[in-house]
Parts: sequence; structure tokens; C-alpha cells
Amino acid sequence: MRGVLGGIVLTLLIIAGVGLLVITFGLFPIGADNPPSAIERRLANMATDAYVGAHAPNQANPVPPVPAALADGARLYERHCAFCHGGAAHRISVMRAKFSPPVPQIVNRIPGDPDSHLWWVAKHGIRMTGMPSWDGILTDDQIWTVIAFVKHSGDLPPEAQAAWRAAAGLTRAGSQPTSPPAVGKPPAK
Ligand code: HEC
Repeated sequence: MRGVLGGIVLTLLIIAGVGLLVITFGLFPIGADNPPSAIERRLANMATDAYVGAHAPNQANPVPPVPAALADGARLYERHCAFCHGGAAHRISVMRAKFSPPVPQIVNRIPGDPDSHLWWVAKHGIRMTGMPSWDGILTDDQIWTVIAFVKHSGDLPPEAQAAWRAAAGLTRAGSQPTSPPAVGKPPAK
């Protein structure tokens, strides 16, 4: 029994020692242009799922997915999230693979997780990834609103779709000054 225990301890020490050597000799690639290894991904996903499952509030989204709320969510999303997660102009962000792990494109492939889990992730962020905590920047209600938008982004009512496109600068709605155009200038060629 003591021999087995000693063997286990020795093996663990060797693994820890090798790990330390790899790190101190600059052999562990820390650049964000290195994709995480399969084992890192697996462990990180397990930890995230378990923690979010244990800490997310056990409730439905309090924001009803009515057109006005989805339009608000679209504007918030486009302003704060689209750069990384993809938006109305580019469903797949150019930043997608510039993070390690890569950024999930949540309006291109809508996550199936409950709203409360996505709300928890948006509020608290995921450390050691590029996902920031929005706590204190967006209110809890605004975060629920963005999540309602994300969940319905594949099937938006026309009002919310128009708000999303306008927020992305794809249409001029709401972004034009109301004053009449200047007169007397030569037409631009
Ligand atoms: C700077 C880039 C960046 C911004 C801006 C950003 N995120 Fe993220 N987000 C990430 C990354 C990276 C991940 C992946 C984290 C991981 O791998 O665990 C992520 C993950 C998520 C997830 C989990 C997706 C899933 O499939 O489980 C949600 C939900 C989310 N973000 C919502 C948001 C919302 C809402 C906003 C805007 C308020 C936002 N994010 C802004 C980088 C970003």
C-alpha cells in the first residue's frame, strides 16, 4: 500500500516538475494566436458548465420578447457585443479566431443554453478568455434584454430587425439629421 501511494506521489511530482520546467523555459505558448489544446478546452468547458449551472439564477428571462424590447436588445448588442460575437453587417466577426479560445458567433449559431445561463455569463464574464464582465456597465435588466435579443435574433419581428440594421449603420433610419439639405452648392460629381 505504501509503495503504491509513494508511486502516485512521485508520479504527480514528476508531472508538476515537468510542467514547471515547460513554463519557466518559455515553452508554453501564451500568444492568443495559439488555439487551446483539446484537453485545455475540455477542462475549461467542464468548469464553465459546472460553475454556471451552479450559480446562474433559476428563473426565466423577465424581459418579454416583444418587438420594442427586442429592438432595444438589438441596439445594445450591436453597440457592445457585435465586434466580437458578429453583428447585422458581419454575422461572423473578423475577430472570431483572434481570441484563444475563439469567440462563439452567437447570432450565427444561437446557443441552446437557458437564458439564465447566458445572462450569468454576460454579467460575470469568463476569465482567461476574452469574455468581459458587463456588470456595472449594463444593468441586470439590460443584460436580460440583450439575451432576449440573442435568443430571438434568428426570427426577429420587422421593428427589431430594422433597429438592428440601423444600429449597425446599414440603413439611415434614425441616424440622419432632420434639417433640410443645404441649397446652392454645386452638385457633387
Ligand atoms: C472582447 C470580445 C467580447 C465582447 C465585446 C463580448 N464577448 Fe461574449 N464572449 C467572448 C468570448 C471570447 C467568449 C467565449 C468564452 C469561453 O470560451 O468560455 C464569449 C462568450 C459569451 C457567451 C457564452 C456563449 C455560449 O455559447 O456559451 C455569451 C452568452 C456572451 N459571450 C454574451 C456576450 C454579450 C451579451 C456581450 C455584449 C454585452 C458580449 N458577450 C461581449 C468575447 C466577447
